[in-house]
Order: sequence, then structure tokens, then C-alpha cells
Amino acid sequence: MSLTVKQVAQLVAGSACLTGLGTLYYANQIEARQFRLETVRVTTGGGDCPKSFWRILHLSDLHLCHPEREKIDFLRKITQAQYDLVLLTGDVFENFTGLPYALEILSRQPKLGAYAVLGNHDYYNYTLFHKTFGRLYRRFRHPPLKRDVEPFVRALERGGFTVLRNSSVNLKENGIFMVGIDYPTIEHVHLRELMSEASDDQFKLVLFHVPVFLDRIRTAGAHLAVGGHTHGGQVRLPGYGAIITDSELPRHEASGLFFRGKTAFHISRGLGADPRSNIRLFCPPAATVIEVAHHQPAGGAGEP
Ligand SMILES: [Fe+2]
Repeated sequence: MSLTVKQVAQLVAGSACLTGLGTLYYANQIEARQFRLETVRVTTGGGDCPKSFWRILHLSDLHLCHPEREKIDFLRKITQAQYDLVLLTGDVFENFTGLPYALEILSRQPKLGAYAVLGNHDYYNYTLFHKTFGRLYRRFRHPPLKRDVEPFVRALERGGFTVLRNSSVNLKENGIFMVGIDYPTIEHVHLRELMSEASDDQFKLVLFHVPVFLDRIRTAGAHLAVGGHTHGGQVRLPGYGAIITDSELPRHEASGLFFRGKTAFHISRGLGADPRSNIRLFCPPAATVIEVAHHQPAGGAGEP
């Protein structure tokens, strides 16, 4: 049996269509639900003095909204373990239907506390117009008004988190000083002021949502900074990496651990996305345990 050119074209178009639909189904229904717990190790400080060790659970981009059972079950399972800190770096909620889930994120309170910053999806209720045209025209990127995030903050506090909004926490007895950068960013001067409250021998930790102005964080003297927002690109091509990073990061740093000077940065792939665009390809959702070994320089931290 021989096929006409038209039949071959129809066959090719049909196969492409089926492959596309199959890929979309896999990306949305399978890979987007393959939650992983990964572990990375990092050494900071670079000095010769004795090390401190901390186990930090880094969560990001939960995009909580109803219904959310699978993600919450995963979170409750991984937070049964004992961590020193749990850090949540923004886009916690997609909308107000996600509020009740804040009480269920943690099964167990970490030794030194749980801390969160907010992201753009906490502050903005994105419409499809902003999701599509905002990609093409920057002025349409966000809705004109931010929403009132106080209900989100209160829900997180009831769930065991301290929400840092361009503010700091000094865990003096544990040698940790922490700053949380509110979305979208913090002025360089303000960040330096906050960081100047840390003593030289403290481990300096920064939480942020969007990976922009990373050099501010480096020059402010952070040893470790953690963020999210990129979702690791969500769609990654083998041999190429993330197609977009939606940040200042190059594609090979769309997620994972990297250094700027002596500051280690960890960018989470996150556990969710806007439900209207929740597709993942070669980029499954992840939470990360960061095992930190910190060597304090003999003469103080200095500028990384
Ligand atoms: Fe996000």
C-alpha cells in the first residue's frame, strides 16, 4: 500500500499532535507530582577554626491552593525528620484557598526554628492576561495592585514560621544571624545595615525569593543565601538545560548550588507552580536538605 503525500502529511501531523498531548499529560499529571527530597553538602567560611554543622531543609514555591493533598502529604512526611532550620523562600501561596494548608506544612518544629519570606505569587493575584502578555511586555508583568498579605503572614505564623520581611533574626547562642529579603528586593544600604548587626564570628544566612541583585548579598557578607522563584526552569532540555530562568541567573544556575565569591547560593526547584502552568519536564519538584559545614575564619568573617 502506498500513501499519498497528503496522507503522509496527515500521519506526521497526527503523530506530532499525539506526542505533544502525551508530553503535556506527562509533564502536568506525572512529573509535576514527583516530589523529591534531595541532599546537598556545602562548606562555608573557609577558615581554620573548628567547624559548625547544621542540617537545613530548604523549601520553596509551594504555590498552595485547594486541592493540595499530595504536596502536603509529602511535606508532612519529610518534616517528620529533625532539622536545625526549615527555610521557606516564597511563593508559599497561590491564593487564599491555600491558607489552611499553612498549618500542615510542618510535622515537627525544627530545633532552631522555621523561617519564611514571601514571593511574587504571595503579593500578586495573577490573571491569565498578566501570565501571557506579561511575558511579552514587561509593563504587564504584574497586576497594578499588590494584595494584602497579612492573612498569609498570620497563617504561616500559626503554622510555626517566623516571616522575615526585610528583617533579621539573631540566634546568638547558636552562632547564626539571618536576614529575610521581602519580595521584590531590598536596598543595598538597608541590607548592609541589617547584616552589620551580626558579629564577626556568626554564620550569616540570607533568605530571598527572586534571584536578582545577588551581588548585594555577596558583598553584604552572607555565607549562605537561599532562594527560589525559578522552579529550576520547569522545562529543561537534555544537554541544554532550563529554557528560561526568569531571573539574572544563567541557565546552568537555574537551580542547585553555586558560589559568588565566598558566598554559597542555593536555588530551589520548588515544589509547585501556578496551577495554570504547572508542567515539569526533566525538572521534577524538589525540597532540599542542605548540610552545612561552616569554618569560622580565625580573624572574623570579613567580606566574602
Ligand atoms: Fe514560584
